Amino acid sequence: MIDLTPDPSILDPIETASRDEISALQLKRLKWSLAHAYNNVKHYKDVFDAKGVHPDDLKQLSDLSKFPFTIKTDLRDNYPFGLFAVPQNQLSRLHASSGTTGKPTVVGYTKNDIKTWSSVVARSIRASGGRAGDILHVAYGYGLFTGGLGAHYGAEALGCTVVPISGGMTERQVDLILDFKPKVIMVTPSYMLSILDHFEKRGIDPRETSLQVGIFGAEPWTNAMRDEIEEKFDMHAVDIYGLSEVMGPGVANECVETKDGLHIWEDHFFPEIINPVTGEVVAEGEEGELVFTSLTKEAFPIIRYRTRDLTRLLPGTARSMRRMEKITGRSDDMIILRGVNVFPTQIEEQILKCKGLSPHYQIELTRAGRMDVMTINVEASKGAVSDNDCAASARELAHHIKSTIGVNSKINVNQPETVVRSIGKATRVVDLRKAKQ
Ligand code: DLL
Repeated sequence: MIDLTPDPSILDPIETASRDEISALQLKRLKWSLAHAYNNVKHYKDVFDAKGVHPDDLKQLSDLSKFPFTIKTDLRDNYPFGLFAVPQNQLSRLHASSGTTGKPTVVGYTKNDIKTWSSVVARSIRASGGRAGDILHVAYGYGLFTGGLGAHYGAEALGCTVVPISGGMTERQVDLILDFKPKVIMVTPSYMLSILDHFEKRGIDPRETSLQVGIFGAEPWTNAMRDEIEEKFDMHAVDIYGLSEVMGPGVANECVETKDGLHIWEDHFFPEIINPVTGEVVAEGEEGELVFTSLTKEAFPIIRYRTRDLTRLLPGTARSMRRMEKITGRSDDMIILRGVNVFPTQIEEQILKCKGLSPHYQIELTRAGRMDVMTINVEASKGAVSDNDCAASARELAHHIKSTIGVNSKINVNQPETVVRSIGKATRVVDLRKAKQ
């Protein structure tokens, strides 16, 4: 893999500013953002008043902990436009997340917001190793999902040549990678594995393609998965994080030269980590739930949004801005199996330790009497498909899971191409426990 460390002269000055400079800018912007939300969104005025806090009470950054949280249901309760801080005719774009239950959550952007968003995505692509003039293939879904258009505008802002293929049509993805020769691909890591399948099916060595950088996000993925993708494609695999409520992709991104967690673009998004049970801010470096406050957003300011994502904050390395550790999972995805907390990413790590298994997997939860049962459906890797090999791999995986996570599991090692493929975010857990009751 080639060295893509950027020359510091091409970075935004704030990326290498001192912590004092960053904090001063954050304080100024945070005061603005709280006042903007309070003065223009009835919900924020009501909840601040109810808690007896006013934007003027923020004298230092840590005072933010006095302000109330925003949660997903606040967005649903104010569906569709109730949390917007500008009149509708100043909105240039809407996005929405489908949400499996209830109403979708809707977010809006002014022209300036789109500019800010594009600039943080451009910064993310540059941190990943992309440069002006590169051909960049966007296989995140376009539409109401923020992935496709967010990546697209950021890539254009950086000066890339964008291939806006969106998700799906996997054969065509392969054709266009071969014909257009992109240097960069932006896609969910699970869909990258489907693209990999198609390369292998056609007998093409993915290491021979033009791809040098993959910018993967929108779902949790492990360092073991990074190693797998980097090895198979001979490319850098870099992590991008974001969520629609806060902006979309580009809230935080890894740097290709370090790959040691994601630098949060703290000049626009202020992070806190809280204890998910008590809501208290935890000490720097401790794990907990990530909470974000927007610092510059006009249309949809968001104050102390509880993301449900679990991580910890770490000091800056390749950039001055703080890092968040690779997300282990969402509190929503946590499986509680006979009292043990299990995240799909922990299972993924163990699967990738077994030579005979591919990274395609799905976890099924059922109930037998009073007992929860976790069944892992996983595919054998292409070379190991005899029944004996499958049984040996199943025993190996069950052993790894028991000895590292501490739970018993049922393992089905199936033939290749039996686990459902995603074209966007993968569904890792199918919970059949309620259906059976
Ligand atoms: O997934 C935005 C996005 C698009 C990010 C493309 C990166 C790339 P939502 O659909 O609102 O937005 O989902 C947000 O996805 O709270 C996390 O749980 C999860 N997520 C996003 N990026 C990562 C990541 C987009 N790098 C939710 N690692 C977030 C782990 C991620 N989880």
